[in-house]
Amino acid sequence: MCSCRGKMIKLVKGGDFMDRIGFIGYGSMGSMLVKGLIGSGQVRQEQIIVTRKDKSRLDEIKKTWPEINVARNAADTAKDADYIFICVKPLEYLDILKEIKPFIRPDHHIVSIAGAVAVEDIEKMADCKITKVIPTVLSEVREGITLVCHNGRVTEEDSARIEALLGSIGRIWRIDEKDFGFATELTSCGPGLIAAVFQELVEAALRHTDSFGRDEITEKVLQTMYGTSRLILEKKMDFRDVISRVATKGGITEEGVKVIEKGLPQVFDEMLDQCMRKREAVNGKILYQFRDIQER
Ligand SMILES: NC(=O)c1ccc[n+]([C@@H]2O[C@H](COP(=O)([O-])OP(=O)(O)OC[C@H]3O[C@@H](n4cnc5c(N)ncnc54)[C@H](OP(=O)(O)O)[C@@H]3O)[C@@H](O)[C@H]2O)c1
Repeated sequence: MCSCRGKMIKLVKGGDFMDRIGFIGYGSMGSMLVKGLIGSGQVRQEQIIVTRKDKSRLDEIKKTWPEINVARNAADTAKDADYIFICVKPLEYLDILKEIKPFIRPDHHIVSIAGAVAVEDIEKMADCKITKVIPTVLSEVREGITLVCHNGRVTEEDSARIEALLGSIGRIWRIDEKDFGFATELTSCGPGLIAAVFQELVEAALRHTDSFGRDEITEKVLQTMYGTSRLILEKKMDFRDVISRVATKGGITEEGVKVIEKGLPQVFDEMLDQCMRKREAVNGKILYQFRDIQER
């Protein structure tokens, strides 16, 4: 089943990155990362090894990426890879770590994408380089922010390599692991939260006009969001600059801004409180799961 087992994978010179990259898990994030990395031109299909739980669906991956290597399980993926991206749900991490533990070498570089799983807990199971990454769905269009932090085994050279690789599908924000929770709300949950906010704007617009349909209004809101982001980023402005440019004293926009400034702080405080409460609850479950795991 595993097209990479028992033979050296031939690395054809292409992108700058020549290592073998294993993906354990090929769901929403795993497939997005594979697609993004191949699409960026940094990585060739032949360099990638993929496995997933539902073995009957491994052939599907070959249909999309004929040159990709599929492995029959996590252990085989780890054995054949230099980088091991673990892209399973947080509560499945411990089982995966137990499975790959016997095959971990000190030169392996694990890339963990579960915010809830602490680097310290992965280190209990894997004596190797570890980078924790919080991806964003925006990488699908090579935008957005990818959070990263590294354990002590990752050298400057190692971090430069993995950050360059991930930097090909978005911007890197290297921060302390202790700040991951809050930053994740902004960068990884962010696209979903921002979509929810602007969905409400579209709904409100639809309640105020019969002249345009949902698709037309959505497209105009999206173009306006996109243009506002570009204006702020390219002209090095901030939100206040745009507000003062548009909301002239005594004008119409000013009235709308007043309503937003009165109502939204409470909504956003509540939103962040709620997200962070939920995050703590999930983290607690993972902590409990790893409680009996002794140091290596
Ligand atoms: N979704 C997001 O926006 C987001 C953002 C940042 C971080 N994350 C993190 O990314 C991780 C993955 O999330 P996701 O949304 O991609 O989840 P998902 O769509 O449910 O994918 C999970 C994948 O894990 C595979 N899997 C489960 N057990 C396995 C095993 N024993 N061996 C091999 N593969 C196994 C599943 O295989 P099958 O498909 O065959 O069942 C599936 O492909 C999570 O830890 C999450 O916290 C997600």
